[in-house]
Amino acid sequence: MKAVQIVELTGPDTALRVGDLPEPDPSHMLSPGSGVVVDVHAAGVSFPEVLQTRGEYQLKPPLPFVPGSEVAGTVRSAPEGAAVKEGDRVAAFCGLGGFAEIAVAPEFLTFGLPDALDFAQGAGLILNYHTAVFALQLRGRLDAGETVLVHGAAGGVGTAALQVAKGLGARTIAVVSSAGKEEVARAAGADEVVRSDGPWKDEAKELSGGGVDVVLDPVGGDRFLDSLRALREGGRVVVVGFTGGSIPEVKVNRLLLNNTEVVGAGWGGYVMSKPQANREIGAVVERLVGDGYVHPLVGARFPPEQAADALKLIEGRAATGKVVLEFRR
Ligand SMILES: NC(=O)c1ccc[n+]([C@@H]2O[C@H](COP(=O)([O-])OP(=O)(O)OC[C@H]3O[C@@H](n4cnc5c(N)ncnc54)[C@H](OP(=O)(O)O)[C@@H]3O)[C@@H](O)[C@H]2O)c1
Repeated sequence: MKAVQIVELTGPDTALRVGDLPEPDPSHMLSPGSGVVVDVHAAGVSFPEVLQTRGEYQLKPPLPFVPGSEVAGTVRSAPEGAAVKEGDRVAAFCGLGGFAEIAVAPEFLTFGLPDALDFAQGAGLILNYHTAVFALQLRGRLDAGETVLVHGAAGGVGTAALQVAKGLGARTIAVVSSAGKEEVARAAGADEVVRSDGPWKDEAKELSGGGVDVVLDPVGGDRFLDSLRALREGGRVVVVGFTGGSIPEVKVNRLLLNNTEVVGAGWGGYVMSKPQANREIGAVVERLVGDGYVHPLVGARFPPEQAADALKLIEGRAATGKVVLEFRR
């Protein structure tokens, strides 16, 4: 099968090789001896793969390895008792091995792909949307009628968070860095859009009538203090990632003064050992697809041979929505 491997840790330009590899066994490291084998149509590309080309991600498999955490395609084989069967269209989270014509995922991280979504959209369904549901609903305790501010709102997690928040009945304020990204955030359902290079904190406070209930933050960096200041009493900043580069520090007296919270949301660490939690989050995502709220925005599609370009698009902050590699059309 055709696959893209990381062969050295020298960054997106030089780290990747496309080649022929043996087909994988129907076994996944999270479910040894068992796994759903998927004929991959599209593989999702995300920030962690950029980091993996430099050995900077927490998951550091020995070289060479096939990166790619999530795919969409059709089931080639499934273990007995699985919720999916041969021929089904699925979205699957494989962790690694997704940048290939055939990938393997645990049964509890494989979900039927709703007819409303194509394979490229399916390749953007799990990491971003399951994270958005987990971060907003489970960790941020977002309620209908509350206001949520989303940083990096034109990105993968950001667009997913906007759609999920609308589906949960919240009002949304998107923070983005350019006019092009403003359009993307609006297409994802942002009620209001503010610019990260402007007085976004004051604008957000005004737009929300005194402060937002939840900030979803995949960016981190310098803006973190203003995120805390943008909260109303009882508000929560949900920490999702650090695309801005630096990891912020909090002086906890700020939390005390305004009765606010900083909450961590690490989707992978939470759900990998909890099949039932995955099914519950999957059911919320499926309902939101059915209700028309969730429809992954696919920003750019590349053939496997151009995987480096896909990674560089993300690294260069130019990606909008989901970036995918197409293995079958
Ligand atoms: N906690 C979890 O469970 C979890 C799950 C999935 C992903 N993540 C993390 O969430 C983060 C976002 O992932 P994503 O897929 O949404 O990424 P993405 O599509 O590349 O979007 C990230 C956004 O961050 C903003 N940004 C600000 N400074 C940046 C910089 N220096 N370089 C690049 N982007 C910058 C950009 O928006 P503007 O240009 O508009 O500022 C960009 O659109 C990543 O760190 C990822 O690892 C965490």
